[in-house]
Amino acid sequence: MTRTSLTGIKPTHGIHLGNYLGAIRPALALAKEHKTFYFIADYHALTSLRDPGALRRHSYDVAAAWLACGLNDKRTTLFRQSDVVEVFELMWILSCFVATGQLERGHAYKDALAKEQAPTAGLFNYPVLMAADILLYDTDVVPIGRDQLQHLELTRDMAARLNHHYGEKTVTVPEALITEAPLVPGLDGQKMSKSKGNAIPLFDPPKQLRKTIMQIKTGSESLEEPKEPEGSTVFELFKLVAPEPKVKQMADALRTGGYGWGHAKEALYTALEKEIGPKREKYLTLRDNEEVLDDILATGAVKARVIAHRTLQRVRHAIGIGTYERSDMRKTVRLKRT
Ligand code: ADP
Ligand code: TRP
Repeated sequence: MTRTSLTGIKPTHGIHLGNYLGAIRPALALAKEHKTFYFIADYHALTSLRDPGALRRHSYDVAAAWLACGLNDKRTTLFRQSDVVEVFELMWILSCFVATGQLERGHAYKDALAKEQAPTAGLFNYPVLMAADILLYDTDVVPIGRDQLQHLELTRDMAARLNHHYGEKTVTVPEALITEAPLVPGLDGQKMSKSKGNAIPLFDPPKQLRKTIMQIKTGSESLEEPKEPEGSTVFELFKLVAPEPKVKQMADALRTGGYGWGHAKEALYTALEKEIGPKREKYLTLRDNEEVLDDILATGAVKARVIAHRTLQRVRHAIGIGTYERSDMRKTVRLKRT
């Protein structure tokens, strides 16, 4: 049977190369063999982003990025988290099946406490909303980076508790799919992250992209000196976007000497432009047309809500909420009469 996979991205900023190589590209690859759901986790973004204009803008940025990078909205489902209100009902149900102690151990919550940032209840409950995102669509696999593993363990735990109490088929217990995707280094060699100011924005114009690449930190060896490619940011990024023979060529040239870091950066720019160029064009066209994006997202939300409604009805029935059984009976009676 086709398995279901689901991925969410928070619209807290524009998409950078780390998001693309670490999250978008591997998640889209799953569409070949899975029934896939992709969504914009806008209510998760609210835990850190309170500028309404920016939240709206970045929601469109993320939607356009998914589509420009190859998401087929006819064959998969792309939607905004906030358009599927069922998620909040499931979130409440799940919150009754997780101990506060478990949430107190959440990385993001603990980090905020350690930094004396007075975390909100939203940040505290972040993993419960994420669990609801996942369980609402009967998700089998969730492609994630290691940083999200704790959230997935919590999700599995809530799902298992629900099933233990109400029956094994109440919800689907999902599995993490730790993507082979690499940790993409930023300009300074540390993990690329918007908040660290070391990111390469994915859809900057070519000139700006080239300028940014030229800022990547390298060793200070002279042109003639041999250089070690492994571990250098330029080479690590090149490996992620260039074909195998070109990667070998660059490694050999660096090790031999007479090939400078500037040359390597030029080659990286060319390879990146080849990968991103066509996507950028598509992105800019889509991004310029928010109405088209709205339509695509609205259609996605309708598709997502059908599944969400079905799951929620099943869960409500299992826990003894609502008049599911009786109203269903009434429907049958009505059908028989006509
Ligand atoms: P940032 O750290 O810039 O705020 P996000 O937390 O919004 O990025 O990440 C969105 C998605 O992109 C997540 O799935 C995350 O695992 C992935 N991602 C972000 N940065 C990197 C990176 N440097 N390498 C690999 N994956 C990344
Ligand atoms: N917490 C994820 C992140 O920060 C985003 C996210 C929200 C998510 N809900 C999800 C990812 C459900 C996968 C499945 O990257």
